[in-house]
Amino acid sequence: MIILGIDTSCDDTSASVVVDGRQVLSNVIHTQAELHRPHGGVVPELASREHLKNIRPVVKEALKRANCKITDLDGIAVTIGPGLVGALLVGLYYAKGLAYVHKIPMIAINHLEGHILSIFLEEEFIAFPFVALTVSGGHTSLYRVDNYGGYTLLGQTLDDAAGEAFDKVAKIMGLGYPGGRPIEDIAKTGSPDKIKFPRAYLSKDSLDFSFSGLKTSVAIYLKKWQNGQTDPEVTLADIAASFQEAVLDVLAHKLMLARDKVGASHIVLAGGVACNNRLKTRLAEEAAKRDIRLSFPPPEYCTDNGAMVAVAGYYRLLNGERADMTVDVRSRYPVQDLIPMV
Ligand code: KG4
Ligand code: ZN
Repeated sequence: MIILGIDTSCDDTSASVVVDGRQVLSNVIHTQAELHRPHGGVVPELASREHLKNIRPVVKEALKRANCKITDLDGIAVTIGPGLVGALLVGLYYAKGLAYVHKIPMIAINHLEGHILSIFLEEEFIAFPFVALTVSGGHTSLYRVDNYGGYTLLGQTLDDAAGEAFDKVAKIMGLGYPGGRPIEDIAKTGSPDKIKFPRAYLSKDSLDFSFSGLKTSVAIYLKKWQNGQTDPEVTLADIAASFQEAVLDVLAHKLMLARDKVGASHIVLAGGVACNNRLKTRLAEEAAKRDIRLSFPPPEYCTDNGAMVAVAGYYRLLNGERADMTVDVRSRYPVQDLIPMV
């Protein structure tokens, strides 16, 4: 089955053609990072207008690179939420137009299910149940995944998402937007043990996260550092490395706690922060200690992309689902509310 996947949930316009939920024929991503960089974060109105400009060329390019005609498609999968309403509307209404005119089934997709299932693009074998950590600019959640469509929320952030913390800290450090990559880069020359920033483990057994206290703590430290009120040997790289370590310590601890509770033999990482190499190395060490498998998608399928939407669309279409033309976008859309697949 050939599925076109479309995602316009935030600041990337993406379209991808995927065969049988696995073989990616094309994955076109038009990023708006340059546009939003001067603002230090995504400006929803600007994002919608930019999606509007780019949706048609991006979809056309995805079909061209896949050497595919629109009539070759068995389905059009499109993200309907969660995300920015104005941004989501552009993708959904473009998909509706295509589906209606060409009489192709349309499948409405939850963006988070896309992230969770993105791992199926690469891995030959995934053992259910597995524990998934989706960690991006908008989300930090742990799920037990029992099958396609069977997601139990184990824990989530109570305030900022981990990627959001990277972005906000990068902003106050003057490192630009999005902040994850520049922080990871500068942190390579710093010492992660230099400053002991707080780790919010919450209660002993809690699988929830909190990053806003850490962000404030870094902001206060940075002010003191700029005013010469801290150890003169501390560099900006030390602050970045110490901040990153505080985030990764909590992510690694909670993911392993979740896996121990579930007893799964496979853990999966997804979302933009899964691009972080230090996080992957740390988790690989933890997985080796427990003799379990760790999987993460390659970077182009970690950040927002149409391919992951096509994967979710493939399994839902196989399950007999299709959206009607009255379907609407949802700014909030918990993944555990999805219809389980039979
Ligand atoms: O999944 P994604 O593209 O969009 C959302 O759904 O939010 O994730 C983007 C997030 C941003 O917050 C970005 O700073 C973060 O992923 N990110 C990283 C890295 N690369 C991207 N965070 C830490 N380390 C990285 N290397
Ligand atoms: Zn995302």
